[in-house]
Amino acid sequence: MNGSIKSVILAAGKGTRMKSEKPKVLHEIFNKPLVSWVISACENIGSNENIVVVGHKGEEVQDFINKKHPKSVCVFQKEQLGTGHAVSMAKDELKNFDGLAIILNGDIPLITAKSLQKLVEFHQSNNADITAITAILDDPKGYGRIIRDENNHIKEIVEQKDCNATQDAVKEINVGMYCLNWQKVKGFFDDLKNDNSQNEYYLTDIIKWANENSYKTYGYILEDSNEAFGINSRVQLAEAFKIMNERHLNKLMENGVTIVSPENTQISPETEIGADTIIFPNTFINGKNTIGKNCKIGPFAHLRGDCTIEDFVKIGNFVELKKSYVKSHTNISHLSYVGDTKVGSGVNIGAGTITANYNSITKEKKQTIINDGASIGSNTVLVAPVELGEKAFIAAGSVITKDVGANSLGLTRSPQKEIKNYVK
Ligand code: UD1
Ligand code: CA
Repeated sequence: MNGSIKSVILAAGKGTRMKSEKPKVLHEIFNKPLVSWVISACENIGSNENIVVVGHKGEEVQDFINKKHPKSVCVFQKEQLGTGHAVSMAKDELKNFDGLAIILNGDIPLITAKSLQKLVEFHQSNNADITAITAILDDPKGYGRIIRDENNHIKEIVEQKDCNATQDAVKEINVGMYCLNWQKVKGFFDDLKNDNSQNEYYLTDIIKWANENSYKTYGYILEDSNEAFGINSRVQLAEAFKIMNERHLNKLMENGVTIVSPENTQISPETEIGADTIIFPNTFINGKNTIGKNCKIGPFAHLRGDCTIEDFVKIGNFVELKKSYVKSHTNISHLSYVGDTKVGSGVNIGAGTITANYNSITKEKKQTIINDGASIGSNTVLVAPVELGEKAFIAAGSVITKDVGANSLGLTRSPQKEIKNYVK
């Protein structure tokens, strides 16, 4: 086990280049804010009570954190005086904390729990006091450079703007993520200095300080430097989305899922899919979902999250599914919307079936229950709350507002008339 870990996530910056009214860290990838991806990675290594340093539009970020990460807290940094100053805002929260503090930026959604776990293991096996995550980049422009000593410890981190020519040529960069033995190194934050070209209180100065105080500093090199990718602009946001998607599609394919056209498929990393399921092109899957084995999804299917789909299910073209449970051997083959619904097994949902789950006056969402073996004719509206019994049969074109019992026919269609010779 990891022992006690808390993370400090830096999210006070303005994110000017996003050109947005919204705080940068609340911009989303797969419906989930950047900061939330970072917090999830921390939570997945057992760091649950995290501290998010907020500033620019901090109340908005705080509202989000309170709602989605209730064990974490926000601390405010009123003026953004630098990364070292930002971490010092967490001092009170960490006063009696005697474990590992992981510091990371809030705008690096591609960081994985696996890498954070490796960082912690590396840190512990070396008995380190500070470990910085580093990466080797062909183009290190803009990043702080890692300067190592003859024993391969980190001697200092020098910001690009403060580099001499030799330092500038170094390709190992500071990713901006660190693991600290908090009780040992917290003294650094009582003595911050800003004598550098940007007059900022640099967190990176902690390395020099640690060496002066005989603490052990290590650098852990990321296996995949993509994980360090930070978001500063909309173009980078799209790039991160692409990387996150490709990474997950590759993992799914390695686990036995067929993805017919990966370049036309988007699947959120929080979606698990069983072997021998085929995902047809132009399918978009957002949020947390579980899809079983031997399913056929798409082309042009849209899952919006909180969906569980058992084995041998077909979700066909132009079907939208949200917050629904679909049991095995069920077909929802064409042009349907199924939301807030429990669908039994062996159900057939005809083309153009809609669950009317939302009342726009009361703003309430209601459940639909479709039991095993039910068969729903095309162009049916199921007005929730409503339940169809086992093997219930709904005639095409019906608007179903009342429950239909097992084995019954439900039909609201008006009888067909024929007016002979009308055309003449
Ligand atoms: C920082 C590192 C640099 C590293 C780079 C990686 C320092 C001094 N430099 O530089 O070595 O290569 O990250 O991306 O740490 N923030 C606050 N409050 C502040 C300042 C920053 O919360 O007062 C937050 C920002 O919102 C951002 C993060 O800290 O999430 C990093 O700040 P930023 O100004 O982008 O750091 P860099 O100059 O890029
Ligand atoms: Ca800066």
